[in-house]
Parts: sequence; structure tokens; C-alpha cells
Amino acid sequence: MRATRLAVSPLRLPRRRRGADFLEMDPSFEFLEKAGKGAVSFGIGQPDFSPPGEVLEALRTVGAEALKYTPPLGLPELREALAGYLSEKYGVDVKPSEVAVTPGATAAVFASLVLLVRGRARVVVQDPGFPMYDDVARFAGGRVVYAYSGIEESFEWSAESIAGRLGEGGVAVLNFPNNPTGSLAPRGLLEELGGLAARKGFYVVSDEVYEDFVYEGSHESVLQVPELRERSVYVGSFSKTWGLAGLRLGYVVAPRRLVERLEAVAVNVYGSPPSPAQLAALRALDHGLGWFSGVLSEYRRRRDALLEELSKVEGVELYRPRGAFYVYPRVRGLLKRLGVGSSRELAESLLQAGVVVLPGDAYSGRAGREHVRLSYALPVESIREGVRRIRAFVEEAACARRKRGA
Ligand SMILES: Cc1ncc(COP(=O)(O)O)c(C=O)c1O
Repeated sequence: MRATRLAVSPLRLPRRRRGADFLEMDPSFEFLEKAGKGAVSFGIGQPDFSPPGEVLEALRTVGAEALKYTPPLGLPELREALAGYLSEKYGVDVKPSEVAVTPGATAAVFASLVLLVRGRARVVVQDPGFPMYDDVARFAGGRVVYAYSGIEESFEWSAESIAGRLGEGGVAVLNFPNNPTGSLAPRGLLEELGGLAARKGFYVVSDEVYEDFVYEGSHESVLQVPELRERSVYVGSFSKTWGLAGLRLGYVVAPRRLVERLEAVAVNVYGSPPSPAQLAALRALDHGLGWFSGVLSEYRRRRDALLEELSKVEGVELYRPRGAFYVYPRVRGLLKRLGVGSSRELAESLLQAGVVVLPGDAYSGRAGREHVRLSYALPVESIREGVRRIRAFVEEAACARRKRGA
């Protein structure tokens, strides 16, 4: 695990390309595959806890009748349960006819953008942001416009920066709590966007898969903003909150007219969401989220441990995330200390120290070269051990560099 100099591994990853014409792989998959045995992985984007026992039991006892197709928009009883669950959670009125079940939030975002992007209309995505939006927006024929916010702005976006250049047929994709930064959306931002969307005729797709991972402040949903209800698609998932990423189940809430059109995408792209997963999801909703407060306090402890450890590494600048389970520090000073050109090179080198972090350029074309993303979906001891390895590697490499007189 000892490395005395920075060597670039043979690993070659696709960079976040602008204007490419086909879908790209999320680089995290490749990075995770290359990690050696015993590596501490800050790369993983899924929770490590088990779902409630009842949900596992529902999966264990799936009968033959549960292995048939379901309606393309999902089991009616699940759509109804989701409508009730979300109505209660956000104090709003969601009708079952406004809900569609999808194979993960991934398919929900895909279907929404394919439906909503008109011709070569603009699609605004956040920078930094989850790479999929950019990719799918281009696939849907849209012209991607990046709304940038950096660490100096605490990763806060103004309505103007998001909607300033949007018009009829355009779409703004929002993701709060944000991956990779962990910032939240203030209610005011959503309200302003609601007013602008109604006036200018664009839609908002709001990916809220991290809605329950909030440590400070509160999550504001597009569902709570009346001006946005008619012009937005809310996207949720069973992957993060319920620890059920492998089930592949997500859902949308959208105006009925959009849900009806989404049915055609469902029929032609995936037929119907997986039926055993839908039965398990019904059990999950029935069980409720009472148990989640324990998960949340554990994830808060992990976030705090990671921030504490990273603050000891010279050359790392931190934004304190308020939600999701990622930290997205700027490592400009560290790159300088090590004489390394980009965070990608740094991330590749850290693999040799037995640590996986993801290069920030997968999430930001503008400043990503100076950032890395670390997930804290791993135990506190592993978090401390991982950052200890980073520190040891960095100190040794910086020292070797000084000795060489570089
Ligand atoms: C912001 C965001 N949206 C969507 C997804 C994918 O969700 P799902 O597993 O429901 O497809 C992820 C997974 O990492 C994510 O980070």
C-alpha cells in the first residue's frame, strides 16, 4: 500500500464530454471495479444498511403470480400507496393518477426528459451535478446549458442562473439534496422557479432521491410549491432511503396529462416496472419510515467524522454538506503540493494507496478538475482509516517531491 511517488495508473476513464452524441458510462463504475481488495471505497453511491426485515421477507416469499407483467405505470395499489405516502410526507394532495412507478429514478429521469424536451430546446443542468442528466438531455435532442455554482457560493443556485435562458419547450433539471455537493434547495428558489416556469413555459424535473438524507435544515420538495405542481416532475426512489438500489424501483409525480404520456414511454422502453420489487415496495410503505431516524443519526456521525478527518489534510477546502451522503471538497491546494495536474490524476494515484475517491470532473466540467467526491456510506472506522491512508500517501508524496527539489 506504500507509494512514494505519484504514478499515473494505466486506468483510462471517459471524461465528461461536451456535445457528445451518445450515452456515456458513469465513471464511478469503472473506478470501483479497479479498486484492489481491501481498498477503502469512498466511491460507492448507495447506502450500506439493510432494508426492514419485512421487505426482505416479501421478496423471499414471492409467488409465481408476482412474476407477471404489471400495468406499465405500476400496480394500482402501489400508485395509491405512494400517493398517500407522499401526500402525508409533504402535506399536499397527490392523486394516484398523478403517480407512475418506474424501474428506478434513472428510468424516471430518462422518460421525463424524453417526453419534455421539445426539439432542440435548452435543458439546464446544475454544475456540479449528477452526470446522467447532461447525458440524457443530449440523447433527448436538447441543448445542454450548465448552471454553475462553486464552493465559494456554497453551491447555491439562483433562479436566474437556472431559468434565465429557458423558454417554451425547455427543461430545468434540479437535484436537491444535491449529488455531489450535499447542498439543499431553499423554498424561495423553488417558488421563484415556479413563477418563471409558468410565465416562460418551461418544465422542471426534480430528482429528489436523497430527500430523506438531511442533517441540517429541511428538504423542500417541488410537490410543496403550488406554482410548480403543474409544470414539474418530481422523481423519487426506493434505492437510497430504503437501501433497495438493486430492486430498481423509482416513481414520479407529475400532472396527469404527463403521466398518461409517460405510459407510452413505459410500454415501449421497459414494458412495466419489476413486479416482485413492487410488492416489496408496498410492504416498505406499509412498514413506514419510523426506523430511519437511526440511519440518519448514523449518517450524520459519518459525515461529521469525514469532515473532521479531511480538515486535517492540508490543501483540502471543505463545504459542509447538509444532505445526501457525499462530500465534494476542493483539492486545489493538495494538487499544488503534489505537483499534480488534476483530481483525476490524484484519484488514480490514490488507488495505489488503497483508497477510492471519484474525480470531480465527472460532476463538473468547470471546476471538477479541482474537486473529488467522497461518499460516506461506510462505517466511521473505515472513514477514519481511509482518510488516514490519504494523509499518509499525501505526506509521503509531498515529502518526496520536496526532496527532489520540485
Ligand atoms: C442524484 C441521483 N439520481 C438518481 C440516481 C439513481 O437512482 P435509482 O437507483 O433509483 O435509479 C442516483 C444514484 O446514485 C443519484 O445519485
